[in-house]
Amino acid sequence: MQNITLIGLGAMGRALAQAELEAGYEVTVWNRTAAKADALLRNGARNADTLVDAIAASEVVLICLSDYASTYAILDQPGVSELIEGRIVIQLSTGTPADAREMKQWIGALGGQYIDGAIMVYPPSIGSDASQLLIAGESEVVAKVQHFLDALGGDIRNLGDEIGAAAALDMAVVSRLIAITPAVIHGALICESEGVSLQQYASMFPEGDRARAVVLSIHADEFVDNVSASVDVAINVASSIKRQAQTMGINSEFPDFVLGLYQRAVTAGQRHQDTSSLIKVLRNQGIAG
Ligand SMILES: NC(=O)c1ccc[n+]([C@@H]2O[C@H](COP(=O)([O-])OP(=O)(O)OC[C@H]3O[C@@H](n4cnc5c(N)ncnc54)[C@H](OP(=O)(O)O)[C@@H]3O)[C@@H](O)[C@H]2O)c1
Repeated sequence: MQNITLIGLGAMGRALAQAELEAGYEVTVWNRTAAKADALLRNGARNADTLVDAIAASEVVLICLSDYASTYAILDQPGVSELIEGRIVIQLSTGTPADAREMKQWIGALGGQYIDGAIMVYPPSIGSDASQLLIAGESEVVAKVQHFLDALGGDIRNLGDEIGAAAALDMAVVSRLIAITPAVIHGALICESEGVSLQQYASMFPEGDRARAVVLSIHADEFVDNVSASVDVAINVASSIKRQAQTMGINSEFPDFVLGLYQRAVTAGQRHQDTSSLIKVLRNQGIAG
């Protein structure tokens, strides 16, 4: 099995497609906005004029769209869903464990096989030793596509056949990430109130640590738009974690708290700014605002 179809050529989908090409596989690509395929086509990818052509081209279909709703929007239409029978669908869009369970059921009912995954790195790391993906699915199905997964990077973790496991571990890791910025901002407020320099505070964290970047951004008073760590992204992530908590009946005070903080940044017009911009709200209003 040497052919793979890539659906979704955003920043991440393009990196995945490029890694499959570099591993020597025949890659067919499709994206709603066709122009995003241009560089991949120059690098040897095959163009599919239609979504139907794209899916028909390979037994394995790798999907990387914004979310699961986008996946249903393109696959759940006449002439397309019928093609899923006999194919293996690998879903690498971010979602919740419940999303993964629902999609496995839907793909299975259409006669397809399903693997769910989560990508734990930024696009430039895909295909390198620094890459990390979490994978969940039945072992015989995963075995059939292992070579395609291996092309995506160094640390491909198979979590077994509990289909929600990759999304669950992804959420558990991201839960820590959304906690870092508010915690570090409170640290910055302590430093500011006691006259300790923010440079000194930043130096307590290693190079490359998100906490260091947050403090330096506050020190520079620069809260530039940053799509990978915007207030908007933090709200989306915290909302998913809250939905998961509600679905599974676990405590949701933490995502509620984080959402409440970031919601205030949205109200202040900072939706597209880096999450470190939250300090502007907390300085002005105090934590109980
Ligand atoms: N980027 C990262 O650092 C990163 C890291 C880990 C995981 N991820 C996950 O990877 C997934 C993709 O991320 P990305 O960075 O590639 O996002 P992106 O650059 O925003 O791309 C989103 C993709 O989804 C497509 N899309 C959205 N809604 C659609 C719809 N209704 N119908 C058809 N296509 C639709 C877009 O098509 P158009 O081009 O036509 O708009 C585009 O191909 C997300 O689930 C994200 O959470 C990303």
